[in-house]
Amino acid sequence: MTRPIERLIKAFDPHKVRQDFSVLGHQAHGKPLAFLDSAASAQKPKEVLDCLQGVYSQHYANVHRGLYDLSERATKTFEETRGKVARFLNASSEKEIVFTKGATEGINLVAHSYGMNHLKPGDEILLSQMEHHANIVPWQQVSKKTGANIEVVPIFDNGELDMEVFSRKVGKRTKIVSMLQTSNVLGTELPMKEIIAQAHKAGAVVLVDACQSAVHQPIDVQALNADFLVFSGHKLYGPNGTGILYGKYHLLEQMGPYQTGGEMIREVDFDHGTTFQEPPLRFEAGTPAIAEVIALGSAIDYVTAFDREAVRRHEKSLLEKAVEAIRSLPGFRLVGEAKNKAAIVSFVHKEAHPNDIGAILDQCGVAVRAGHHCAMPLMKRLGLPATVRASFAMYNNDHDVEALVKGLHKVNKLFGKG
Ligand code: ALA
Repeated sequence: MTRPIERLIKAFDPHKVRQDFSVLGHQAHGKPLAFLDSAASAQKPKEVLDCLQGVYSQHYANVHRGLYDLSERATKTFEETRGKVARFLNASSEKEIVFTKGATEGINLVAHSYGMNHLKPGDEILLSQMEHHANIVPWQQVSKKTGANIEVVPIFDNGELDMEVFSRKVGKRTKIVSMLQTSNVLGTELPMKEIIAQAHKAGAVVLVDACQSAVHQPIDVQALNADFLVFSGHKLYGPNGTGILYGKYHLLEQMGPYQTGGEMIREVDFDHGTTFQEPPLRFEAGTPAIAEVIALGSAIDYVTAFDREAVRRHEKSLLEKAVEAIRSLPGFRLVGEAKNKAAIVSFVHKEAHPNDIGAILDQCGVAVRAGHHCAMPLMKRLGLPATVRASFAMYNNDHDVEALVKGLHKVNKLFGKG
């Protein structure tokens, strides 16, 4: 059993927090930087940078291999991080936590090691219409190999999932439901507990893509009853090259390796073949991202040190201000107005292409993402080639929203109000 986090919760002060992220003190094109692209990748606090520096300068050695002090210490800290992640997700055991290089690898791992071996022709994999490519393409590969079909649950114009269609589609043939918890484009938050309950009733397993949700809300895999869940470290203020796959242990146990080599191996013999370790090591081939994983633990410490409800309220208040401003600006249209939304807003303009808007905002010091956001099927559903997306994190403030709105006025000046 994992132990609950026993730490003092710090009061959340967004202005103090901003000081922990030195990159935000820099300028872009001579303007103060308004970084509104945290959904693509979040900035890293000093604690995480210090942790990386500390590991590499004082404690670094390969893990699970060395018989010497330095390696044993590195291994201990690395494995302690597994416990930290387990507590962060409220997993029932640290053996359910697999370190990956990102959410994409986590989904590919499940698709390969579970999907390829559990599906047969006629079975169904249920996805939503707003999935990220990383949660579509691995299943298309599985479908090609196994003959299982992909079924897609549509969304309404406001970006909410059509739960009536979901309930109709989830049935005997459904073997896997794989869905995001929060849309990276629209910010829509899915009723994941309900989705999982219905999927389980039909006998399917559920993979939750928590890439965008893990940073905006606490995750409890036991309360959700998720079978698999993935997220990326770099979106959670942690280092690149880190990610987590949570899997119920009895499911991980049934799964064969995804990649081979390194400490996932128990014994290799030219005559008798190779045997593998138990999960989670079975899925961690090669030398892992040691310092980065340890620093992901530091990012988790950072995030969980604050009252997460207060952080969520702050992010939501920025979202509301941005949404109100964009709604009242002539020429602009919001894309995705679900009732339950994380701090992500997409929009388009009548005349200006999203890429042009992105370029104009950049000149104003405002960093947003413009494009299809790796969600082409969603763009097709919306009838749009692309959107502009602003995403908010704990370090953003009212000045960032004001800079965004000022930049949008400039778009209107240059392109007209439509
Ligand atoms: N998936 C990331 C995004 O939405 C990269 O921007």
